[in-house]
Amino acid sequence: MAKLWAGRFDKPTSTLMDDFQSSISFDKRLIRCDLLGSIAHATMLGEQGIIPMADSEKIVQGLNGILADYDAGTLTIDLSAEDVHMFAEAELTQRIGEAGKRLHTGRSRNDQIALDVRIYAKEASAQVQALLHTLLETLLSLAKAHTHTIMPGYTHLQKAQPVTLAFHLMAYAQMFMRDVTRFGHAFAEADVMPLGSGALAGTTYPLNRERVAELLGFSAVTDNAMDGVSDRDFLITFLAATATCMMHLSRLSEELILWSTNEFGTLTLDDAFATGSSIMPQKKNPDACELTRGKTGRVYGDLLALLTVMKGLPLAYNKDMQEDKEAFFDAYDTLVKCLLPYPEMLKTAAFHPDAMEKSAALGFTNATDLADYLVGKGMPFRDAHHVSGALVGKCVKEGRALLDLTLAELQAQCPSFEADVFEAISLDACVQRRSLRGGPAPQAVAESIQRAETWLAAQRENAHT
Ligand code: ARG
Repeated sequence: MAKLWAGRFDKPTSTLMDDFQSSISFDKRLIRCDLLGSIAHATMLGEQGIIPMADSEKIVQGLNGILADYDAGTLTIDLSAEDVHMFAEAELTQRIGEAGKRLHTGRSRNDQIALDVRIYAKEASAQVQALLHTLLETLLSLAKAHTHTIMPGYTHLQKAQPVTLAFHLMAYAQMFMRDVTRFGHAFAEADVMPLGSGALAGTTYPLNRERVAELLGFSAVTDNAMDGVSDRDFLITFLAATATCMMHLSRLSEELILWSTNEFGTLTLDDAFATGSSIMPQKKNPDACELTRGKTGRVYGDLLALLTVMKGLPLAYNKDMQEDKEAFFDAYDTLVKCLLPYPEMLKTAAFHPDAMEKSAALGFTNATDLADYLVGKGMPFRDAHHVSGALVGKCVKEGRALLDLTLAELQAQCPSFEADVFEAISLDACVQRRSLRGGPAPQAVAESIQRAETWLAAQRENAHT
């Protein structure tokens, strides 16, 4: 396709140069955003009398035609165009003739691409939020079913204190709720309209920037043209939110992988979300979890790529910034791909409460409560810690659990023990006693689930999708 900027050149570009600098292979997915932006720009140009109203109407009609063809799947995107903007303008002029040449009045591709990417980032943020809402709904309903399911809580991956499955899952719910908020920030940051920045120094035409913002559903307009074309902070915010969300998914994936090992034995993934081995007939592998964990690295790479692209750029636009799109799209696509199967995978997985409780019982997770029991009988905590530790040591040697000890054995270590100790260190009691807000007691977790449900309903109500 002939270059729309060819006026000052004597020679055509080398095909090597064309191949190298062309972005249409990846920015063609911005075509809807580009067309919508152009429709708003052309409408405003007509209203302001900057171009004849008849031309404005023709342009808008032509662009709507391209949009309709695109939506119908009948638009052929000419990959020999340098980028999506050149393609759209050339396609328009080919369809409606001379009037099409007025579209680019008072605009540069620099503010045009900034606009397109902002529109896309807003849509992407809203879509990720919707997927997170679905994941949260699944976590909350699983949590509701398991407020009494005892399991060991860990530190250093060593059994620490008894908790419940609901409590553990709700820790992840907190992370994903923060992610929803973070994507809300990404949306808000992208929600500022840059058109009117021109190439870098604004424009001499009397554009109505607020009108364009209104037509496109933006909340505000950018306040400095140079920043308007050279700012990609909103993408970095999106990528940072994406990287953080992937990190959360990766941690959850790691736990599901651990729990579904023979050694833990507390979870069985549904056959529909596992894979087999070509050689070992017994294998059932948690590939979706592993892939999610693995893809987290590549999303971190996308974030780092964009931060690095931006770090040495003098103001204003530089072609380096064309590198933003592949990182952005890759991170977005990757996160969506990971989020899609997750709710179903969790819903269909079988948790094994008996194995969890047994694991908690055999792991001395009630040793802190044993010490606390003695504190209740008046002993200083440091001494009580020592007594409990000595009893754990005895049990380790004898292959027993604390609850297997007799009262006489306990009293041999410390005469303050009485018959009520067994009830006090039952796993149920240990969990029930941790009833402060934010603790694992069933009632405290039920209240936390309730708060999360209320929050989620409000989020859904105000969603941008
Ligand atoms: N394809 C370019 C990009 O993605 C569009 C902006 C081009 N601007 C320019 N002055 N060459 O950044």
